[in-house]
Amino acid sequence: MDDRKFSVLIAGGGSTYTPGIVLTLLEHIKKFPLRKLKFYDNDGERQKKIADACRILVKERAPEVEFEASTNPEEAFSDVDFVMAQIRVGKYAMRSQDEKIPLKHGVVGQETTGPGGIAYGLRSIPGVIQLVDYMEKYSPNAWMLNYSNPAAIVAEATRRLRPNSKIINICDMPIDIMDRMAAILNLKDRNELVFRYYGLNHFGWWTDIRDKTGKDLMPALKEYVSKNGYWVGGDYDKNTEASWEETFKMAADVYALDPTTLPNTYLKYYLYPTEVVKHSDPNYTRTDEVEAYRQKNVFGECARIVKNGSAKDTNFVSDQHSTYIVDLCTAIAYDTKQRMLAIIPNEGAISNIDPTATVEVPCLFGATGAERIAMGKAATFQKGLITEQNSVEKLAVDAWEEHSYTKLWEAFSLCKIVPDAGVAKDILDDMVVANKDFWPELK
Ligand code: NAD
Ligand code: G6P
Ligand code: MN
Repeated sequence: MDDRKFSVLIAGGGSTYTPGIVLTLLEHIKKFPLRKLKFYDNDGERQKKIADACRILVKERAPEVEFEASTNPEEAFSDVDFVMAQIRVGKYAMRSQDEKIPLKHGVVGQETTGPGGIAYGLRSIPGVIQLVDYMEKYSPNAWMLNYSNPAAIVAEATRRLRPNSKIINICDMPIDIMDRMAAILNLKDRNELVFRYYGLNHFGWWTDIRDKTGKDLMPALKEYVSKNGYWVGGDYDKNTEASWEETFKMAADVYALDPTTLPNTYLKYYLYPTEVVKHSDPNYTRTDEVEAYRQKNVFGECARIVKNGSAKDTNFVSDQHSTYIVDLCTAIAYDTKQRMLAIIPNEGAISNIDPTATVEVPCLFGATGAERIAMGKAATFQKGLITEQNSVEKLAVDAWEEHSYTKLWEAFSLCKIVPDAGVAKDILDDMVVANKDFWPELK
């Protein structure tokens, strides 16, 4: 009889996503039994606000689970089976710079896209590598599921710098979209869909979607997406923020460019940057919205729980983000071979793309991690886009490794949303100053 119980560490315990993950872990405790739940963050004060509320939540719903929050790596990473990583190096203050600096120069300012995403990448690389090293030192048998962004650049860095480590980089965007597809088709959820998808992180396409009987669902989805994008509306979207509403709707314009596939929402930044900049305010960007909405709600709800001494009536919910990471751990723990997406070294999964590219494709998840499923050839349009964007991501990691200003300037210049090398240099020079506490000194 399998009576294992698992110890899970959330690294980035102070993240706005932590309470949702804790709630899902508690809801799934029969499928994925826990013995310990631990938090780690390098900002003890921020983490404490979330941890104090989560301690109450755990005590009420699963008193047998031991709960600990620490800023000490040895304490946190010892005796752990799974690490769920979700750190934001430089926090919202630096995300704000990532968005506002490019916008000042008329270029898209976005968390994971373009110069902002590259800047964030150079901050995240050492942060995530450090987490991997702590895990390998204190719990060498553990697996890390990493959400920390920009996942594409982080995954390229871990592929190169820690090739044998048990880290799997993941993203919730296609997962969120697939739940929307299920809702559009009146199906229960994403698990009803059998899909083929390929690309890079935040840069991919579905080529085939069927139900479990093999029925082709693409025609009905295309019909819907051509008019509404992935906006479902009604009850489904009642808590969706306005800027995300725009993004889901704009998938219709992205779809129009290639009606043979269905796109990831993030492609809007690459294919319609002029439109995106036109609708951006360089003085009030997505970070300001996140601070005013998600961060405020999460920390407010935690404070309310602590004040009441109870989380029985909490409004925290399980969502795509939290169920995905818990499902992945469950699949690894029980060797289920469930088919789910991951961001992994290509090695032939997309046959006409560089084998050393880091791609996002469906994988079978089990005890040995993620086994990629071959997706065949990328079409000409996708191959061109992927090759350019993957080179940007590789140059960013080169720049970090070599401390090279030139490589970083090349990364910015090659990036599709930056008009030319002059603008690239202006943005880069502002970013060097803003990131002085985080980036290596560039030569
Ligand atoms: P947040 O700022 O609320 O939380 C991040 C936490 O990380 C903070 O508490 C911070 O103190 C901590 N931190 C920063 N650097 C650290 C380090 N070096 N070591 C330990 N802790 C550190 O951020 P958030 O909005 O909740 O997002 C968390 C992360 O998850 C971000 O990287 C975000 O981009 C990512 N994310 C990814 C996906 C995906 O699809 N891959 C989805 C959602 C969020
Ligand atoms: C999606 C993406 C993530 C991104 C998140 C939050 O889920 O997959 O990579 O971090 O959105 O974006 P936001 O702008 O709401 O912080
Ligand atoms: Mn993502």
